[in-house]
Order: sequence, then structure tokens, then C-alpha cells
Amino acid sequence: SKPFVYITRKLPESVIEAFESVFKIEMWPEEEVPVERGVLLEKVQHADALITMLSDQVNHEIFEKQTNLKVVANLAVGYDNIDLNAAKEAGVVVTNTPDVLTDTTADLTFGLLLATARRLMEAERYVKNNSWENWAPLLMAGQDVHHKTIGIVGMGRIGETVAKRATGFEMEILYHNRSRKREAEEKIGATYVGFEELLKRSDFVVCLAPLTEETKGMFNKEAFERMKSRAIFINASRGALVDEEALYDAIHQNVIAGAGLDVFKNEPISADHPLLTLEQVVATPHIGSASEETRKTMMTLCLDNIQHVLNGKEAKTPVGAG
Ligand code: GLV
Ligand code: GLV
Repeated sequence: SKPFVYITRKLPESVIEAFESVFKIEMWPEEEVPVERGVLLEKVQHADALITMLSDQVNHEIFEKQTNLKVVANLAVGYDNIDLNAAKEAGVVVTNTPDVLTDTTADLTFGLLLATARRLMEAERYVKNNSWENWAPLLMAGQDVHHKTIGIVGMGRIGETVAKRATGFEMEILYHNRSRKREAEEKIGATYVGFEELLKRSDFVVCLAPLTEETKGMFNKEAFERMKSRAIFINASRGALVDEEALYDAIHQNVIAGAGLDVFKNEPISADHPLLTLEQVVATPHIGSASEETRKTMMTLCLDNIQHVLNGKEAKTPVGAG
């Protein structure tokens, strides 16, 4: 019989179709409601493969229930929602979706930067609320982006691609990363600096580092205090890198100018969260990679990874343990 693939969210038939002759595919029927834990724990006992979302906690509890499971394909480049040690112990391969979402996520990150600097969402609310009475010299005046300094924390594929976008705006590019990226320095003209120096010198501080024990909470009160008072903070990686209370205080007390946030500590963030009461905060619902084309490519990559592993081949994009 065909291997059983369980998908924790409803994906489009147009993507699934191509794999239905080789797999028995079942999906959680909801697009916007996460799989019930009990259902996932039951399904994993029969599944050869899972496709999981970044909102699913794939931990010991899941891996202890598995009997045939050989691969978990996470529909994201980040995989902090998966316990890699538990997967390794259970002999389960974990895959993610790097590369295919790099440009799309860099576009959203740069868009968020532009929207925050030029107050686009606030300006739109103003027009649609019928508040616009006249042209005025400083109406909705924001900050320039061109020729400013961008500081990228986390110079992975997405970070480098954001840096490439920044060259079009003739920005000075600083970056901080665990390891130096000499190629990016040569190709894009990015300069490696320490975290503190990046915070001090950047007009835009852009967080693109993965969530790990080392990066958790790295944007804290102290970090915001080191930034320029006109600095704008952008986060398109994971909310847990940020102390959100400290960010709220920093913006509220004009320690920094504003923030563009695609990710939050708890998702979905509640509409009455203090951060969302600030005009200087632009918020989007974790849509970094959300173009129709890229999301479909990510889904297909998940299924390709599963097919490779179940056929005894190397996964296309496996995630290393530890
Ligand atoms: C989205 O946040 C991803 O990790 O792909
Ligand atoms: C992170 O994995 C990236 O692609 O930047």
C-alpha cells in the first residue's frame, strides 16, 4: 500500500494532486485553524511522513508516538518548532524549505522597512478615515531610507538578499553574524561589525537571525538603549528574539522611533497587545514568504523531500541536528 502522509493544515489540491498516485495523503481540513493536538498524536502513529507548520510544536510527545515515521517536512525555513534531538533519537529525518523563499522574504522585509520609515500604514488609515483635509508641509513626514545605514543581524541567505536590496537604495550596509561572510563583504560591500557597534551605527536594525538559545531575547532593553533615537527596528525572523515589553517601552518613551514586525512572541498576537496601540508600529501576520508562487513551491519542496526520504534517498533540504 502507498505510504501515508499526514499534513497538519489544508493545502491546495493543485499542489497535492501530483503526489496522490504515490502517497495516501490526508490533511487537517482547516486552513487557518491549527490541527488539534489529539488528532496529530493519533495520526502520527500511522504516518510515514508529516508535513508540519511552524505553529506546530513537534517535540518528544510527537516522536514518542511514532512507529513508522521517517520524515517530518516543515513548511518553513525556520525549524525552532521541532526538537531535533528527539527527531534524531527517533531516527526521523527533518527537512525545511531554504532557498525557495529567500527572495520573497527579503522583499517583505524590505517592504516592512519602507512602510515603517515612510509611515505608509498610518498614512493609509488617515486617508481612509477621511482625516485628510489638506496638503500640509509636514503631513505624514517620515524618514528617508536611501543613503542611510542598515544593520542586518543574521546574515544568512535572507540577510544577504536584503543587503542586496539595500544597495539599490545606496545604503551603507553593516551586518552581524556568528561567522563572517567574506563573499557578501566583497560582492555587496557589507561591513562586519560587533552587535553593539551595529546597534549604535544603524538607522535601520533588521533582525533575520534564527531563534536559538543564543539569540533568544537578544533585542532587550539594553539593546534598544544602544540604538539611535531615530532608529527603526525590523523583525522578520522570530518574535522570541525580542523582549516585547522592552520594545514597547523603547518606542513609547522615544528611545527608538518605531518598529516593523512580521513576527511576534505569541502568534497570533492579540489586537489589544500594547505594541499594537502604537502608531509607530507596523504589524503584519507572519507573511514573510507569503507569495502565492513561493508558498506553492515550498509545499512542493516538502512533498519532494518526503518522496526522496521514503525512496531511501537523501532529503533535498535536510536540517542538521544540533
Ligand atoms: C517563516 O518564518 C519561515 O521560517 O519560513
Ligand atoms: C536562513 O536560514 C536564511 O535563509 O536566511
